[in-house]
Amino acid sequence: MAEAFPTVSGDHHLQEASVEICATVPTGLEVIASEEIQQIFAPILSIKSFKIQQGKVFFNLPFTQVNKLKTIRSVENLYAIVAHLPAYCSTKEDTFAKFLTLPSELNWSSSLECWKTLYQAENKIITPLSNEMRDNLGKHDSEILKFRMSCHRAGSKSQHPFGSPDIERLFGGACQDYFGWNVNLKHFDVEIFVWIFENQNVMVGITLTKDSLAIRNIVKFGPTTLRPCICYCLSRTVSIKLGEVVIDPMCGSGSIPIEAAIAWPNAFYLGADSFLQAPFNTAENIHYVNTNRAKGVIPVDSLVWDATCLPLRTSSVDVILTDLPYGRRMGTKHHNWKLYPDLLSEFGRVCKPSTSRAALLTQDSKCIVNVLKSNPFWKKSHVFWLNHGGLRSAIYVLIRTAFML
Ligand SMILES: C[S@@+](CC[C@H](N)C(=O)[O-])C[C@H]1O[C@@H](n2cnc3c(N)ncnc32)[C@H](O)[C@@H]1O
Repeated sequence: MAEAFPTVSGDHHLQEASVEICATVPTGLEVIASEEIQQIFAPILSIKSFKIQQGKVFFNLPFTQVNKLKTIRSVENLYAIVAHLPAYCSTKEDTFAKFLTLPSELNWSSSLECWKTLYQAENKIITPLSNEMRDNLGKHDSEILKFRMSCHRAGSKSQHPFGSPDIERLFGGACQDYFGWNVNLKHFDVEIFVWIFENQNVMVGITLTKDSLAIRNIVKFGPTTLRPCICYCLSRTVSIKLGEVVIDPMCGSGSIPIEAAIAWPNAFYLGADSFLQAPFNTAENIHYVNTNRAKGVIPVDSLVWDATCLPLRTSSVDVILTDLPYGRRMGTKHHNWKLYPDLLSEFGRVCKPSTSRAALLTQDSKCIVNVLKSNPFWKKSHVFWLNHGGLRSAIYVLIRTAFML
């Protein structure tokens, strides 16, 4: 087998070697994601170990820790970085010429070793195939990787004198020649990912998450189902404790209580909605999670109620997590001026003075800021602005005041 780049071999080397990881997150949630990642890899990573860019968190990880990447919940996708490259020449011809020779100039070893460890793909050859193997491809079918190339160009696309498919075709072809791997756009083992930024800087990586972590756990979707990584980040802002009662009073398909119950299973969760179909969707999603789970059932129940008139005792709830109707796909902005004050007062009634917390996601900041000015139950602790489906939203983290009814 040709050794076109030094491979990492033997346990001793593997323990010492490290790989740069890029985690993608919804823009605005980078700090919450780095806190989670730091906690998972403590004491190896400190908060200073992270480099944050818009929608991305970078950190270096020793190979011995790679398997723990699977436990991260706040991110959408994970990549093992092969290289960061400076700005390419601005003409199309120069850029194409660079990409054609690039595969042999890069050191792919740590990123491909990381992929191999994570997927337990011991039998796969991650170095370029030898001439002997290329002549006898049929004999080595099970060892030869299938791959696809994906390119994402950020910023104003007009800055680039080429399209993403041009790069996918060209760099994909060059990687195929270099490694001897087969192209398979649907059933691939490895995805090579190229980002070309607005300033023409280039980043090359190996995708570590086969299905985006953004679509886990939910099989029954509603019109406004929230992505699980946002649900996780929202829940993380309120530090759920042992035995606490946590409700999502407007839970839709239940994505928030489900995600929170998976991450903090030692609390009690109730998800409800006024839409009659919602509890059925939530129950189906809970059932899906439970049947695919090794560690017992998640502590979530679902029902129907009107969140402005909760069938719950005063001071009986510790945490409220919810994704409020924004007034776009759900409700109207005009209606929010009546709904939001009613909700915040009712949430205040059922929550415990001085100790309860709430994390409320909304796109209607103007309305919630105004309501908070006159509502005696809640004071603002933090606001996390985020890009949610291209729209500017915010998570309002609130603390219940000592105010008693
Ligand atoms: C933005 S969606 C929540 C989506 C949910 N997080 C999910 O992932 O499916 C807002 C939800 O509030 C519900 N809703 C609106 N007014 C309500 C009320 N007065 N009581 C309870 N639920 C209400 C809607 O039916 C809708 O499901």
